[in-house]
This record gives sequence, structure tokens and C-alpha cells, in this order.
Amino acid sequence: MTGTIRTVGVCGAGGTMGAGIAIVAARAGYRTISFDRSAEALARARKQTEAFFAKSVERQKLSAEERDVILASMQSSTELADLGACDLVIEAVFEALSVKQELLGDLDTICPPQTIFASNTSTLSITEIASGCKRPDKVVGMHFCLPAQLMKLIEMSPGILTSDETMQAAWDFTERCGQIPVKTQDKPGFILNALLVPFNNDAIRAVEAGVASPADIDRAIKAGLGYRMGPLELIDLIGLDTQVRLSEAFYPITLDQRAAAPPLLRRMTSAGLLGRKAGRGFFTYDGNAMFGA
Ligand SMILES: NC(=O)c1ccc[n+]([C@@H]2O[C@H](COP(=O)([O-])OP(=O)(O)OC[C@H]3O[C@@H](n4cnc5c(N)ncnc54)[C@H](O)[C@@H]3O)[C@@H](O)[C@H]2O)c1
Repeated sequence: MTGTIRTVGVCGAGGTMGAGIAIVAARAGYRTISFDRSAEALARARKQTEAFFAKSVERQKLSAEERDVILASMQSSTELADLGACDLVIEAVFEALSVKQELLGDLDTICPPQTIFASNTSTLSITEIASGCKRPDKVVGMHFCLPAQLMKLIEMSPGILTSDETMQAAWDFTERCGQIPVKTQDKPGFILNALLVPFNNDAIRAVEAGVASPADIDRAIKAGLGYRMGPLELIDLIGLDTQVRLSEAFYPITLDQRAAAPPLLRRMTSAGLLGRKAGRGFFTYDGNAMFGA
């Protein structure tokens, strides 16, 4: 049986995606428990979250009272055991199959049998991730877009063993959060990343080949294709380290050369130029503010 969702756990909530996903759930009235193995990352995410909601009040999207209620409903923890009370746990930890499988295996021993596990994976198989736990019928793909607190789309994908009941409960949850779910198959990259990972790597290779500067490549894509954001600005937002992990997860499955991490991406990652979160990637930034309100 799948019960009513009241409490939502977010794993990797100190990260770029997890912090935004926790905001989405808390803003919709769910009690939210943010878990990360890094206390430092959680503290940073909490500061960003407070700043985000402060802006929401400033822009009159929320009253100060509503903001206080939401923030009070958001708890942080470095203890996985604290997720034992969750009806839904959404994982947004590193894009590595073994890390996600191990996490679900651990959650299996902590959460009651009816708890649904959702994965925010961008490229990995939901069926393979689900094989890390003993409840594959309760595991579903729930791929948010960056920044999760602003972007409405969620790609929803069932694994081979995901029950219809789980899929429906997860789908209903996304709609109650005010998001826009679309159903995709459990295929590498779903819809967005199947198109984006190779495209973004192409843009990096264009920089590497000296075709144009990052600014001019982005300007061309925005002006010529009508995109709101250029690919290099987007990679800076995604995080260059995450783009490496996406490529490493995607390339072996698809054998698409365009999905392989370009050498420049690896060099910049090794140099700590991780994009917006590091203050420098293809462009430079002042601080690591969270987007929007
Ligand atoms: N960055 C994006 O644009 C984007 C978009 C959609 C989906 N995703 C997916 O979201 C997931 C996270 O990506 P990200 O960019 O937020 O990564 P990130 O590196 O910014 O954050 C990952 C967080 O997970 C934590 N973590 C890692 N292993 C953990 C574990 N075993 N237990 C608890 N915490 C752990 C890290 O401390 C870190 O805070 C990945 O699966 C990625 O594919 C990313």
C-alpha cells in the first residue's frame, strides 16, 4: 500500500539540485527533511534557502508569516536515520550508480515498507538504481530541472518493476507541488539530457577548438535559436563537475562520442573551475546566490 505523503526527505540536499527540490516540497506544505553527508553543504543550502524566501517576501509572493512557517517545516540532518519518518524520499546525490544503489539499500533498512523512493538521476537507469533496494515497485524517476525552485518541468519515469500505484502517487505529489510532470521511458537521459548532454559537450569542444569565445558562442545560440540561456552559461549553472559525471554516466550506455567528457571540461574541473558554485567556470560570478524567489 502507498499512503498519503506528508513528510518528504531529500538526499543530497546540500547540493545544487537537492536544495531546490527541498524548497519545492516545503513551499507546497510538506514537512521536509534535508539530508546530506556534508554538514557544510547543508549549512550553505540553508543560508541560500533563507535568502531565496527572503526575496519571495520582498517580491510579495509570500507573506513573512508564510515564509516563517515554511522555514520552520524544513529540517536538516547528516543522519540518514532521520529519514525514517518520510513517506517519500527523493535522492539527488552524486550521479553515480553505485552511490545511488547503496543509498537506497541503506534507506530500505530505515524507512517503512510503504515509503516511496524517487531518483532525480539525469542519465542513469531507474530500474538499475532500484535494484539497490528490496522495494523496486516503490522506486520511480522524478527528474527535476535546474533550478528546481523555479523550473516547472519534472520528467517522470517508471522502472520495469515500478507499480502503477507508486507512479500515480509520485505524479500526484508533483502536481500538488505546482510542477508540470511529463511521462518518459526509463531511457538514458530521458528527454532533456538525451538532447542536452551531447549538445553542451559540443559547445565545450567549440571553445576548445577556438571557434569563438564562450560569450560569443552563447550569444549566437541565444540570438540565433531564441534560447534564454547559452550552453556555456547553462553548464556553469549545472556545475562542470556534474557535467563530467553526466557524461561519464551517459557515454558508456550510449557510446555516443558527443556524450564523452571533452578534455577541456576535465581540465577545468581539475582546476576547480566548477562554474557558478565556485565563482568561476566559463564565466566569472560574484558569490553563489540561488536563483529567483
Ligand atoms: N546540476 C544539474 O543541472 C542537475 C539537473 C537535474 C538533475 N541533476 C541530478 O541531481 C543529482 C545531484 O546533482 P547536483 O548537480 O545537485 O550535484 P552536487 O554535486 O551539486 O550535489 C550532490 C550532493 O550530494 C551529496 N552526496 C553525495 N553522495 C551522498 C550520499 N551518499 N549521501 C548523502 N549525500 C550525498 C554531496 O555532499 C552534495 O551536497 C544527480 O543525480 C544529477 O544528475 C542535476
